[in-house]
Amino acid sequence: MGYRDLRDFLVALEGRGRLRRIAQPVDRSWELACIARWLYQAVPERERFGLLFENAGAMPVVTAAIGASRETYALALDTTPEGIIPAWVRALSHPIPPVRVAQAPCQEIVLTGRSASLDLLPIPIWTPGKDVAPYLTTLTITRDADAGFQNCAVYRSMVLDERRVVVNLNPGRHGWRCVESYLRRGLPAPITWVIATEPAVHCAAVANVPYGVDEVSIAGGLKGTPVETVKARTIDLAVPAHAEIVIEGEIRPDDRAREGPFGEFAGYMSQAVERPVATITAITHRRDPLYYGYISQFPPSESTTLQSLGNCGLVLKQLHDLGHASVRDVHIDLTYGGLLAHGVIAMRPQYPGHARQIGRIVADTTLLKRVTVVDEDIDIRDAQHLDWALNARYDPARDTVLVSGTFSPADMDPAVRSEGREAAGSKIVIDATEKSGAPPFSLPSRELMDKALESWRAAGLPPIEVPRRVDLALARKK
Ligand SMILES: Cc1cc2nc3c(=O)[nH]c(=O)nc-3n(C[C@H](O)[C@H](O)[C@H](O)COP(=O)(O)O)c2cc1C
Repeated sequence: MGYRDLRDFLVALEGRGRLRRIAQPVDRSWELACIARWLYQAVPERERFGLLFENAGAMPVVTAAIGASRETYALALDTTPEGIIPAWVRALSHPIPPVRVAQAPCQEIVLTGRSASLDLLPIPIWTPGKDVAPYLTTLTITRDADAGFQNCAVYRSMVLDERRVVVNLNPGRHGWRCVESYLRRGLPAPITWVIATEPAVHCAAVANVPYGVDEVSIAGGLKGTPVETVKARTIDLAVPAHAEIVIEGEIRPDDRAREGPFGEFAGYMSQAVERPVATITAITHRRDPLYYGYISQFPPSESTTLQSLGNCGLVLKQLHDLGHASVRDVHIDLTYGGLLAHGVIAMRPQYPGHARQIGRIVADTTLLKRVTVVDEDIDIRDAQHLDWALNARYDPARDTVLVSGTFSPADMDPAVRSEGREAAGSKIVIDATEKSGAPPFSLPSRELMDKALESWRAAGLPPIEVPRRVDLALARKK
């Protein structure tokens, strides 16, 4: 029924050999992020692990535990890699609202006033030598003043001093809309940063669900039980009760400062821009808290893994809701996050132009930059198989749709951003489904290939696993 808190999850992760402890002292102003960077740059995805720095400051610091790989993400949802998309579709169909509790582990210690100092926390610098300050990279909860619902997402926040941060609330994002709903009435907007809670909340926060859908309810759906929440001490927001640390604050009208430069998920440094400033009103935490920060910046990263995997189920569910039941699977490449990335759809086209139609819908309703549609006999997570489909079934002049003049979030797209000005971007839809008249595959029959596996074994050749792409090809009728 899901993990109660991040600690439970770390125990499970360690039990599977997917968490490494670093006992030696590390300097969080540079060393921690550089070690985590090597994890993503040098260790193949399937072998990656979470990092628990036992001596990085006042408390242990964890990063990459949820988004090291598809395997760790699956464990975070208490499922298998194949179970990730079904878990998401279930959660989106059956969200479970949080339940409020009166007392919570995250409030064992309550610090307010001058004692609520960010200096108490081991907040890392994520692109040492280039970021201007330490940054909170964790869950951010806000509320819509008019409708009353809460929003949970990740918006990086730059430490300005021990009591203030600058929050990267991009115009149009849901957190920005929530904060604006207070500021335009001249009221301070409540905001919290939730550091390390049950992993389902971390996974839900970065899925692009519609405005008004509380990601904490989706997290309940992912866990199969409601997330317990507690009222924050100094502001009117409910926060996950089993969090390690909660930072409470408010954004006052007209309080703004420059945020950045900061290492972006796209691989380049962001430019400094003006963003809202939040003033800390309280820090509450467990007696022996853990600190968690996502590592983003140069891809691949924990950020790209979390955002890609969370948004696949969302896209599939949306297509099914539109009546396209013949869409079978969705994959978003793990190098670029759910936005500006490459989405691949596997489907069984039902009529001429169906694959293109699906590609266009996905291009128009998501932040993906490239959308490729293939048949259901392609393993969309296998780059080699996908390339084969593009070589064999895609005619560029005939099967490409270009969508130009797309706006959001082209300002974050290094390919179109120029000299600090925002520019419109574009998208490509590729129909790489088989067109009529394709001959049979040049593969022996399944029966003969299965028999040959026995011969392989008898010959004493090294053991092999049948790749999914071959399984799919052998299953083809003609
Ligand atoms: C480590 C990390 C940092 C992120 N930083 C930001 C950010 O600063 N601003 C932003 O708009 N989105 C950021 N995102 C992406 C959003 O959290 C994500 O797209 C989320 O779904 C947005 O939620 P919303 O649709 O409720 O606005 C970040 C994601 C991660 C994993």
